[in-house]
Amino acid sequence: MRKVLAKKTCNKIVNLIQNDRQWDQNLFLDKKDYLKQKVKKKLNPGKNIQNLYNNFQLDFIEKNREIKKTLNKILGNKYNIILAKFIVSVPNSWMPKYVRDFCKKEPGINLNKFIKKKYRDVTFFQGLDFHMDSIDRSFKSNKFITMYVYLNDVTSKMSPIEIIEGSHKFGHVPWPHFLRKNRKKSVEFSIDNKNFSKFKKNALTGSSGDVFIWTSNTLHGTSKPNNKDKKFRISLRYLIEKKNRKKSLIDDVVIGQKVSEGVK
Ligand SMILES: [Fe+2]
Repeated sequence: MRKVLAKKTCNKIVNLIQNDRQWDQNLFLDKKDYLKQKVKKKLNPGKNIQNLYNNFQLDFIEKNREIKKTLNKILGNKYNIILAKFIVSVPNSWMPKYVRDFCKKEPGINLNKFIKKKYRDVTFFQGLDFHMDSIDRSFKSNKFITMYVYLNDVTSKMSPIEIIEGSHKFGHVPWPHFLRKNRKKSVEFSIDNKNFSKFKKNALTGSSGDVFIWTSNTLHGTSKPNNKDKKFRISLRYLIEKKNRKKSLIDDVVIGQKVSEGVK
């Protein structure tokens, strides 16, 4: 859904967040403190747990008529926000050397373990491997969607979301995925590493106020940001589940199942 939200309100939120702290190397633990850290649990914002989302009143999104109409069509008239949180795409210039070295070995990981505890109220990424969001819902229903809100303009250099269109058709598939011929506009995907099907890949560049929805079984990821200026992407990610039994669009689109395991 393009331009569904008021740009002015999105910009206001971005400004509030940008002024809330120093968005640079200051966010990261130094190497000594990172190594000293024992408990590496609860690194990310949870529902009502250290979550910057809770500082905002976001009715302009959650009660937006067009969004509600779309969610009603997909999920029926009863749905529940499993989790909402801000996602920040981290430019290289913020990362201490030890983190950059780490990411060379393991690209596309969640960076929150390197972030100072007090700033872990948002989730930090620098590029993310293709995955299904059902990965985080082991033994739960896959009848949910991800709703992604661009709060600022997202150019091709700002790590836009990349969607593999139609990749939900096999239902939940554990990570890591068999992908090959990963080209700019297409990629081949297989569930058994034998039979590959070609899918269209779409990089979602966009404007503040754009909203994207995909199923829990749709493969998506991001490339690394490549911008030299101070702009960085702040987005809002919602996971929203179906709550009643009456048939709705998601029942036709997603192969209903309990998520067996998130990771192979
Ligand atoms: Fe995701």
